[in-house]
Amino acid sequence: MNSKDFFDRVAQDWDDMRESYYSDDVRVGALAAAGVQRGRIAADIGAGTGFISQGLIREGLRVIAVDQSEVILKEMKRKFGDNDTIDYRIGNAEDLPISDGMVDYAFANMCLHHVERPPDAIREMARILKPGGKLVITDADEHDFEFLREEHHDRWLGFKRSDIKAWFQAAGLSGVGVDSLGSCCEVQSTCCDDFARIGIFVASGEKAR
Ligand SMILES: C[S@@+](CC[C@H](N)C(=O)[O-])C[C@H]1O[C@@H](n2cnc3c(N)ncnc32)[C@H](O)[C@@H]1O
Repeated sequence: MNSKDFFDRVAQDWDDMRESYYSDDVRVGALAAAGVQRGRIAADIGAGTGFISQGLIREGLRVIAVDQSEVILKEMKRKFGDNDTIDYRIGNAEDLPISDGMVDYAFANMCLHHVERPPDAIREMARILKPGGKLVITDADEHDFEFLREEHHDRWLGFKRSDIKAWFQAAGLSGVGVDSLGSCCEVQSTCCDDFARIGIFVASGEKAR
């Protein structure tokens, strides 16, 4: 099974699973890092069932929600409906189905550690930003909980903050910061006693005007 099959399979349960892994603080921290403004347009990459999108809509933004899994996007559409506020697009973070310079903000929460080539995904997210647009990525700090590869199909065991910073800069973003979000991701292994408690970082950067 790969990551897409995994998220196809857990789509209907993802909200409950997500709630047990990390709290709404993650969404609050991500939106605060971007300083989102009403009336703008944002991309939610690896949107899942719409955890980040939900906060964006509440703040009066329009959203382009991208995910590799058609099944999980269907679940998101069931929750939020088919309307002018959310544009649902199936696609890969490394080859986004969004034109250059389309969005004011791009977010990716807990998606990057599933992506094959994280620097390529970051470059893509920078590409779709308007001049002055902001990219905010929230994801796991580097860890050594191997069971997450097997049980959650994680491709990367988190990231070094220095790598994230370098990839943002290589994508042409400025004012790059990578800090602790002050919140953790907690996962109990289903087959052994392992319990993962992993710090979450928030990375942000701005595209040149
Ligand atoms: C851990 S879930 C997070 C979902 C949502 N952002 C949240 O916080 O609840 C990761 C999501 O990223 C999607 N994903 C993983 N790899 C992807 C890729 N290469 N391109 C697009 N989506 C991807 C998965 O299908 C899944 O919906």
